Formats: sequence, C-alpha cells, structure tokens
Amino acid sequence: MDLQALIPPNKRRDLLSFCSSGLQVSRLVLQGTPQPYPSAVFYHLQQPSHVVLPFSHPDFSGAILSYRRVKAGTSWHHFPWIALRVFVFLAFGTPSSYSAEIHATGFNYQNEDEKVTLSFPSTLQTGTGTLKIDFVGELNDKMKGFYRSKYTTPSGEVRYAAVTQFEATDARRAFPCWDEPAIKATFDISLVVPKDRVALSNMNVIDRKPYPDDENLVEVKFARTPVMSTYLVAFVVGEYDFVETRSKDGVCVRVYTPVGKAEQGKFALEVAAKTLPFYKDYFNVPYPLPKIDLIAIADFAAGAMENWGLVTYRETALLIDPKNSCSSSRQWVALVVGHELAHQWFGNLVTMEWWTHLWLNEGFASWIEYLCVDHCFPEYDIWTQFVSADYTRAQELDALDNSHPIEDFKKGMNMYLTKFQQKNAATEDLWESLENASGKPIAAVMNTWTKQMGFPLIYVEAEQVEDDRLLRLSQKKFCASGSYVGEDCPQWMVPITISTSEDPNQAKLKILMDKPEMNVVLKNVKPDQWVKLNLGTVGFYRTQYSSAMLESLLPGIRDLSLPPVDRLGLQNDLFSLARAGIISTVEVLKVMEAFVNEPNYTVWSDLSCNLGILSTLLSHTDFYEEIQEFVKDVFSPIGERLGWDPKPGEGHLDALLRGLVLGKLGKAGHKATLEEARRRFKDHVEGKQILSADLRSPVYLTVLKHGDGTTLDIMLKLHKQADMQEEKNRIERVLGATLLPDLIQKVLTFALSEEVRPQDTVSVIGGVAGGSKHGRKAAWKFIKDNWEELYNRYQGGFLISRLIKLSVEGFAVDKMAGEVKAFFESHPAPSAERTIQQCCENILLNAAWLKRDAESIHQYLLQRKASPPTV
Ligand code: BES
Ligand code: ZN
Repeated sequence: MDLQALIPPNKRRDLLSFCSSGLQVSRLVLQGTPQPYPSAVFYHLQQPSHVVLPFSHPDFSGAILSYRRVKAGTSWHHFPWIALRVFVFLAFGTPSSYSAEIHATGFNYQNEDEKVTLSFPSTLQTGTGTLKIDFVGELNDKMKGFYRSKYTTPSGEVRYAAVTQFEATDARRAFPCWDEPAIKATFDISLVVPKDRVALSNMNVIDRKPYPDDENLVEVKFARTPVMSTYLVAFVVGEYDFVETRSKDGVCVRVYTPVGKAEQGKFALEVAAKTLPFYKDYFNVPYPLPKIDLIAIADFAAGAMENWGLVTYRETALLIDPKNSCSSSRQWVALVVGHELAHQWFGNLVTMEWWTHLWLNEGFASWIEYLCVDHCFPEYDIWTQFVSADYTRAQELDALDNSHPIEDFKKGMNMYLTKFQQKNAATEDLWESLENASGKPIAAVMNTWTKQMGFPLIYVEAEQVEDDRLLRLSQKKFCASGSYVGEDCPQWMVPITISTSEDPNQAKLKILMDKPEMNVVLKNVKPDQWVKLNLGTVGFYRTQYSSAMLESLLPGIRDLSLPPVDRLGLQNDLFSLARAGIISTVEVLKVMEAFVNEPNYTVWSDLSCNLGILSTLLSHTDFYEEIQEFVKDVFSPIGERLGWDPKPGEGHLDALLRGLVLGKLGKAGHKATLEEARRRFKDHVEGKQILSADLRSPVYLTVLKHGDGTTLDIMLKLHKQADMQEEKNRIERVLGATLLPDLIQKVLTFALSEEVRPQDTVSVIGGVAGGSKHGRKAAWKFIKDNWEELYNRYQGGFLISRLIKLSVEGFAVDKMAGEVKAFFESHPAPSAERTIQQCCENILLNAAWLKRDAESIHQYLLQRKASPPTV
C-alpha cells in the first residue's frame, strides 16, 4: 500500500523528509493493512537463540509469537522484513493448546516495500490466533537494526558487541513486526547469549538459566514491557562494567561503560538520578519502569537513542573522565542525558501518532533538556546558551504569558501525558491540553506557527510623540534570500515583548501581533531611551530596526546595559539580515565592534560562529587576511583579560570562554597566542606539562593550522595513543585545519581508515572542508572519488546528509551549485535529497552575498586599517 495514501493530503509534504536535531528521517514505509488492530499486539520474542561471538552466519535466529485477532476471510498477512528470512505458521487457540495449526505456504518477499506477504492454504476463520514466526538474520555493520559494534579489550583484542538501533523503521531488521509507532504492543523478550556476556533489554531480568542445548549459553528472560512502539525496543549483548544508584523515587539507575571505565559513568549517573525525580515532579507522572540503564556504545550513528529503559549513547555523549574531559563535554553529556530521559515520558509513554508528528517528540525534548540542566547545574547559565544553540529549533509553547504561565504549562503537560499515556497523540492534541489548562487560545496561535512554513521578520521604526514613543510594526515572512515578495504573504500571530533602557530586564509592554501592521504607543519613554523588541530573545521572529533605533541600541551593547541574550539576539538578527541582503554586512561588522567589553561566553560563542561563517565566505576573495585582522582585533581585548590559566573562583563558563577565545585568536594567527600555544604543545607532547582538557582543542587547532607535517604526525600519534573517545574526537575535529595540500590529503585518507570510527569519519571530512579554501575543494573531490564507499558505509542514514552538508555548504560560486546538483543526479542519495537541495540553495545565497557585499566589506576593512577605531 502506498504510504502517502494514509496521510491526510495537507500533511504529506512533511513526510518527504523530516528534520530535527539535524537528523533526517525520510524513508518511512508502511506495511500491512492497519485497521482494525487489536488494542495491543503481544509479541513473545525469543532472540537471538544463537549469538556466537565472534559472529558466524546466520548471526541470530529467533521466534516470535504474536496474538492477533483474525478477521474472517483473511488468507494472507503482510510483514515488514529486511534481511530476515521468516518461517511462519499460524495457530489458533492459546499458545499452550493450539487447536488448529495452519502453516503458511507462500512467502512473497517484497524488497522495495520492506515487507513479506504470507499466504495460507485455507481461508482463516474469525477468532484469536497465534502467529508464530521463526526467523533468522545477520548482524550488520551499518549501525542500524540489530548490528555489531567493534571494541578493543584492554589487552588489545578486537571484539564485538551486538546492539540495536531501531528508530525510525529498523526494528523490522531485527524481528518481523508491525513496525509503526501507533501499533503498540507489549514485549516478552528472552535472549540466549554466551554466559560471560552482559545481556540487557528494556525491562529488568526475571530469569536466567543455562541453555539446554549448549553449556556456553544462558537464556535470559526479561519482564514484560508496558504497551509500547516497536521503535523503542532494544537489546544489547556485550562486555560492560557499570555504576549504579537508586534515584530518590526508587528507580534503579545504571550507567554501563566499557570494561575498566566504570568511573567514567559517574557523572551521567548523577545527572540521571537527579533528573528522574525532577521530571516525575514536573509532569506529575512517575517513571513507569523499575529500572533504567544508560549505556555507551562504541559504534553508534546518532548521538543517543531513548529506548525505553535502555537508553543508548555514543561514548562521547555519556562518559566523563574527571581529568581528561573538558567542560563542554560535561555540558553535552548533561544535555543529552536530560534529552533522552525526557523522551521516557514524551515519546515513550505518549508516542506520536505518525512520523509527521515526530517534531512533538524532538521539539519538546530539545527544550526540556535545558530545563533539566538548569536544574542540575545552575552555574552553566544554560538558558542563554539555549538561545544560541537551539533557538531556531525551539517552539514557543509559552505563547501568551499572563498570571501563572509555568503552572498552566505544567498542568497542560500533565493532562496531555495522562490522557494519552500508552497511546499515540498528534500535534493538535498537545495544543488542546495546553489550551484547556491555560484557558488561552493556544491552538489558534500555534497553528499559525506549525501549519505554515517559516517565521516572520518584524520591521520596526519609532517616533517620539511628546512623552510617548510611537512604534510602527509590520510583519513579513523572513526568507534567507530577502524578505518575502509576492502576494498572499503568510501571517503569524506573534507574541511580542517590548523593553526600554529604563528597565532592560522587564517587558514594558506585551502585545499579540495578529495583523500585518500595527502601531503601538509606549507611554512615558524619554527621547534618550532605547527601545528593544523580543526581550530575552524568546520570540520566534527576527527584528529589523530602523537605522535610528539600531544606532540608539549600540551604547547598550557597549556598556552591557542590554541583557546578554538581548545583545546576542540583536547581533544574530543583524547577521542573518545581512546574509539575506536586507542590510549591509558592514553594518554588522560595526555592531560587532561594539562588543569590546563583552564578558559573556554565549554571546561570544554566537558572534564567533557568525564571524566564522563570514571568514569562510571571504576565503573566496583575496582579502581573507584582512578579515583575520578584524577577528584578531575583536577577540584580543577579551583574550588579554582572560589569559591562559584559570584564576581562582572561575567556573564552567570561564573555561568555555577561554577555550573559545584562544582558539579563535590562535586560528587567526594572533602572534602571542600562537607562540604560547606552541610552547604549551611542546611541553604537553614531551610530557613535561600535560595540557588541561579545556585547553587542548584550541592548542591543537592553533599548532596544526600554523604547523607542518611533523605537527600533523604528532597529532596522529596522540590520536593513536588516546584511550578516550573524547580525545580521539577532539583531535579528529581539528585535523582539517592543516593548510598544506599533501597534508590535507593525508587527513582525508585517515578519515576513511580503521583508526576512525565510522560515525566520526563525517566530522573529519567536514573539518577539512571547513578548514581552508584548499580543504574545501579537496574534501569535495574526495567525496566524489570515494562516493561508493561512503554511501555504502552509511546506507542512506542521516550521517550521509550530515557529510554532504558539512562538505559543500561553504561553496560560494554559482557554478558549484550546479556541480553539486549534477553529481547527485548521477549518484542518487534519496535520504539526503532535501539536504542536497538546501545546500544548493545555500551555495547560491553565499554567491549572491559575496557579489553583493565583498567590495564594501573590503573597503571598510581597508579604511579601518588606515585609521583604527579608538575604543
Ligand atoms: N530519538 C533521537 C535519535 C533519533 C532520531 C534516531 C531519529 C534515529 C532517528 C534522540 O532522542 C535524539 O534526538 N538524539 C540526538 C541527541 C540529542 C541530545 C539532541 C542525536 O542523536 O543527535
Ligand atoms: Zn530526541
């Protein structure tokens, strides 16, 4: 059956490709006739019955019993399958007393549709039947379905673990099932595994006994799961150590680590144990399982996966070594743990009805992970970072705030989770619950945001009318290529806050802009006061100020009277307006110079990111060096204030800021920074003085960029010696900074070598593409030359999209858009289709930006050099 046919016409567009957290899910396959299903399907899953390590063929086999109601007249069944061979019979009656057995006689495998159709010799009678399916399959090495993950024992021996990753549609690679989120079932899982291996699944173990046929095997039986979707089922067989604790609300929490590294699980354990009761209170719904395991998997495509009760992570998203982990890793682990645990409620207990509503899952988890980290680590100032990192992904749930918005929100969440627990929900269901709890028109507001693409640009100008300030606002769709032209411009209901210099932290006025244009009067605003929109940068829109209004805001940046997120948002809006051609890039450079006294890490991080984009753009010109001078000028005052070594009383954010600033200065070739980096690197390599974890990235980057073949060889040696995946990744990410053509080639070859885990190859090649002008060309050529191997490696998973994006988004010449398009026409990557289109669009935007602004930027930089600004 055609999948599209099941989706209401207005939702079909989203199905082609859904993107959240950079992950793309675009091949969704429907199997079977979905209606009517019994409320739950029960699977008795026994799998794998012969896991042999190292694995031989077939790697696993299993049997599945499912209890189904059969409609009269049915003589066939569809099953999704991939790489599984199934043997089926259908029996009527209870499992212990099959009254009649009917063996399937026809197996029609439909590869394209990922399903198998069974036919039975006679028509099935109405009643409840048990479908028994025997199947065999192979453990793949593509990081999806039931696959093997390679690791090395402390003594250097190569071994494999068997692990699962099912979201979105890969459960069918492990066992035959109705692999759709809305077809929930309970699962009784047993695994037959080598007796010296750890075997885990969603639930706790209820029985473990020797396997009669083989004394080296044991059969491990897990408790029945709650009613759940197939994509959340998981099992892991391998060698692991763990640390454990019990959360305040009585859940047994374990963090599984590679053997010998249990210590490195302690940080995540602490976060998880704090987070579970926090969410329980927040949602007012308890965590329903008796245990939760968090496990680090060596080969893992995504960042982490929220399987119910058995959450899987990349090693770098879970393991923290007190000495060798940097502050940003700690923060990342906390966020990822917070994110996946939120899914235990939002996603696992209440599941989206179909993949079109996946954003409900990911959007919510991507927001609440910050709430969780703010609870666990207030010193991280994580909400400011949210604005920078996740702002464009965030959904504005707290649309209209009034008396008790947070309480209303919590109440609405509780209503939603309680009403739909163990069931499936759609976007509108969430709005309805929030609306009921708050009495506010949530659905009406939110529909303008979720049912149409994009978001608005609010243009604002002001006029002083006696003691009042009159604001004229207008909204238009914001497009990356400029504001919307054409008729029928979409309109949004935009909640807007307005603050003034009288009290920069307080909204002086809140309005709901529900028209294309609006005039607003701010009472009692003196002529010398500034006025700003979008207090706290929580509104999902961009703001364009008249020149006069913008001018008046600059002193607020310099003297820091504008709050940090407002400074950040202002700069960020201007940058995107410049890129879209709505204002000149020179305007933004001038604003960037106002950040001389900036102390805030996140504000710097955002500014630095934008300057990085601009640098990449200008690497297409012959005045690249000029922009490096600008970077050095902007960053040296803060660099001098910070110095190289932590001062007493400094915390998390100072460490992040120091790493950022030194890295930026070093990369731009700031002389003093370069010299000190070289000195410290030498001491580090000679073992005289080991670099603190927070200084490693900036130092590695600096010495590599300005180094030679010997530096690269030393880095590769450090990589080989590194015991932690975090350190390996740290090195892998900076290798692309190398400038010499033959070294760049060496890095690219390294990316595909055995030394780099398959999921990390992408960031090495991406690093080369983003590292230099020559790297960009070399990386693209490398991808073309090695396309088959790369495509095969990721089998159309989302890593291929990420690879393409990182590798081509830096081009800024029209003809490259054509070249990229043509290449993928002859080398199709269906799962990355949308990414490829976006990349081509971005290349054209870059090219237009360069043509438009290069000359004026150059003039500005020259003039600046001739008469440096006095600040
Ligand atoms: N459920 C996702 C992972 C996923 C999504 C796997 C779609 C396969 C298909 C998980 O909750 C997630 O969002 N992981 C993020 C990390 C997170 C902290 C943003 C990831 O993998 O990048
Ligand atoms: Zn998620």
